[in-house]
This record gives sequence, C-alpha cells and structure tokens, in this order.
Amino acid sequence: MKEILVKGGRRLNGEIDISSAKNAVLPIIACSMLCEETCVINKAPLLKDVFVICDVLRSVNSNITIEKDRIVIDNSNLKNIEPDSELVKKMRASFLVMGPMISRFGKFRISLPGGCNIGTRPIDLHLKGFSALGAEIKLGHGYVEVCANKLIGNRIYLDFPSVGATENIMMAAILAEGETTIENAAGEPEIQDLANFLNSMGAKISGAGTDNIKIQGVKKLRGIEYTPIPDRIEAGTYMVGAAITKGKIRINGIKEEHLKPIIAKLRELGVYIESLGDSIIVDGDREFNPIDIKTMPYPGFPTDMQAQMMSLLCTIKGTSLITETIFENRFMHVGELKRMGANIKIDGRCAVIEGVDVLTGCDVKATDLRAGAALIIAALAGEGYTKVGNIYHIERGYVDIDGKFRKLGANIERVEVE
Ligand code: UD1
Repeated sequence: MKEILVKGGRRLNGEIDISSAKNAVLPIIACSMLCEETCVINKAPLLKDVFVICDVLRSVNSNITIEKDRIVIDNSNLKNIEPDSELVKKMRASFLVMGPMISRFGKFRISLPGGCNIGTRPIDLHLKGFSALGAEIKLGHGYVEVCANKLIGNRIYLDFPSVGATENIMMAAILAEGETTIENAAGEPEIQDLANFLNSMGAKISGAGTDNIKIQGVKKLRGIEYTPIPDRIEAGTYMVGAAITKGKIRINGIKEEHLKPIIAKLRELGVYIESLGDSIIVDGDREFNPIDIKTMPYPGFPTDMQAQMMSLLCTIKGTSLITETIFENRFMHVGELKRMGANIKIDGRCAVIEGVDVLTGCDVKATDLRAGAALIIAALAGEGYTKVGNIYHIERGYVDIDGKFRKLGANIERVEVE
C-alpha cells in the first residue's frame, strides 16, 4: 500500500503542465460507443478512473489500446452484454455508458453505479431523460433494465443542472429520431467539450455551455482523433498550492476562461494572478484576507475545488464561510483538517472556518478524491511531516500529483507502507 509523505514549509516555485480533464475524457470515451469507426483520444490523462471506464467498455467487447497517452478505441464489435458490474459499482461515471448503450442496443441491463462517497448521488434525472426519449426503465435488485425499440427526440427539463444527466441524455439523443432539447442543462466546460467531440464526429448539437442544449438526431457518426480540454480542477489545485505556501508558480496549458470562478475567488482573498494566454502565473507572497465561498453549478465556484480552498482558508486569519450547495455530504475532509489543527465548525451545508496560525503535520486519510488533494495542500503548509493515507482516491483523478508538486519544489514523496 502506498501513502503520500509531505514535509511542509517549502514555498512552491517553478512551472508545471496541466493534464487533460478527467471529467471530459470519461464521457468522451463512453460516447465513442456510438460509433463503429475507430476513435483516438490524444493527450489522455492516464488515471485510475480512465482505466476503469476503458475496462467497462472492454467488458462489452470494445477493443481499446493505450499507447503512451494515446487511447485508441475500436467499437466495431461491441456486444450487447451486461457491462462488468464490479467496474460499474467502482466508479459512478461508469454509468455514462448508459446513454450510448441505449442508442446502440435498445435493450440491456446495467448495475447501479457506485463512486466517491460524497452524497447520495441518485440517477433519477438520467433515467427521467431516457424515459422521455422513449425508453422503458425498470429498477430492481441493484440493476437498471432498459428497453427502447426506438428513441424519439423530446423536450426534457432537468430539475437540477446535473453534469452526468446532461451528458448521458445528450449521448442518448444523438442517434434518436428528431430534435431533443435539454432545458436547465448543466453548462460545465466538460459538457462543451463532449459536444465538440460529438459534433466533430457528425452529431448536431447546439447550445452546449448554455442551459438550453438542442440535439438534432443524426443517422451515423464517424471516427475521429481528439484532444480533450485541460483539467481546470487540476490547475486550480496547484494554484491553491502556490497560495498556501506563499509561492510563485507558472501553470502551462490551461484555458483561463474555464478557471474564472477559481481565479476570482483567489484574487478576492489576495492572491496575485497574471494571465499569459494559455499559461498563468500565481503569486501567493501576499497578505490574505478571509472570504466566503458558495459552490454552484458552472460558472459558479466548482464543488470540486471546495476542499482545496478550505485548506487554504484554514491558514488565513479571520473567519471564512463555505457553503456547499451541490453535494450534501462533502465535508468529510473537515475531520482530517481538524486533526492538523484547523478550526472549522460545520452547520448543515455551511462550514465556518477560523484561520489558525499554523497547521501541524500528522497522519490523515483521504476520504475522497478532492479531499485527498486538500490534505496534500494543507500538508505543504503544515509544520513537520504529514502522511496522507488512502491515496487510491487521489490516484483516481490526479496525474502524478507528487511528481508535479516535487517539480514545484515541494518535499513530497509516495512511500510504500505495510
Ligand atoms: C460530475 C463530476 C464531479 C463533480 C460534479 C458536480 C464527472 C465524472 N464528475 O459528477 O466531479 O463534482 O459533476 O460538478 O464529471 N443529482 C440528482 N439526480 C441525478 C443526478 C444528480 O439528484 O440524477 C444530484 C446529485 O446527487 C448532486 C447534484 O445533482 O447533488 C450534482 O450531481 P451531478 O452534477 O450529476 O454530478 P456528477 O455528474 O455525478
């Protein structure tokens, strides 16, 4: 078993490159199932979640090869069999194969998904969308059974702008007959990227990135090569790392527009940020003041950056407030941050953070992916050594996190423990 060992106290300095976005690549790999020709994903982030979705596709006879950071997917021989339930339970995003499978097979069954333990995360909105397109859905014994003789475009209103539901419904509607409209759709950059990928394959999607997406059904898609967008959450994580250590770093290969809410909040608390096109300079050698943050659907502040920001706010004198509106159980890192000396009180969906003079290194455990990143960030500024356990959570979503922080001068290593 591996853990991440950090000795805090070094200012980050230097530059790193950002990987492609995990949350863009997962639906892109899933939607390749809509096409019988070969699709190639370039600059793919080689992460556990990406390997899992590839294995889910392989379990229905997709032929996938990964060479360096290039994923080649041949779905010409897909079989209408149940995707490996162990894999589907392992990762919630596995459920993204459902939209393409409805289109491709009409009738099949799939296990209900698992995933990060950050809330109940139902899939009712996904299923509501599939039903509206004409699929018959049966739930029971941990499975979803789907039967759709023909999918017909419809108008679908999402009660909440769910990222996964928007993607899944969009994928199911591509080969449906007629026009589908998704109202109150999620507008995350990863959804825009999925639409770009699908449109390059011959789909007719407009409005992705707004709350009203229109999909005109087409008969067939063609195989393409594609490079997904950079990972805004990965970039945000290193930006916060620079701030908490009072360091100065350059992050390359970003899309500044996607980082707007993160940049705005970091500037508000006092971080100096300079944009250089597809690079950004982050200088944390400043006086910081406490701020309030409320997580919201894009372009609001991303829930996936909430934990990392909390680590930073723990070190800023005064009272900060974080309100988590997306997931009902996303404060599990609080207990671990308190072990490091943080002063945080939780009241329902709000966390009141009183900045402390110093966080102290100790043994902590990652409770989910972003919580793990938040603990590493806290450890970078902490006094002495911090050992972060359960790093399999972190490995799901960060490419070489210890290597990249080391490149920035951090004293961090992955160690083998019994
Ligand atoms: C995606 C991201 C995840 C991010 C989240 C919110 C991927 C692979 N994961 O997750 O990193 O934290 O968006 O930005 O892209 N909900 C329902 N019913 C549904 C679906 C969702 O009630 O059918 C609720 C969820 O319980 C949650 C909220 O909607 O409270 C947001 O979930 P959603 O946007 O669907 O997140 P994911 O797609 O799972």
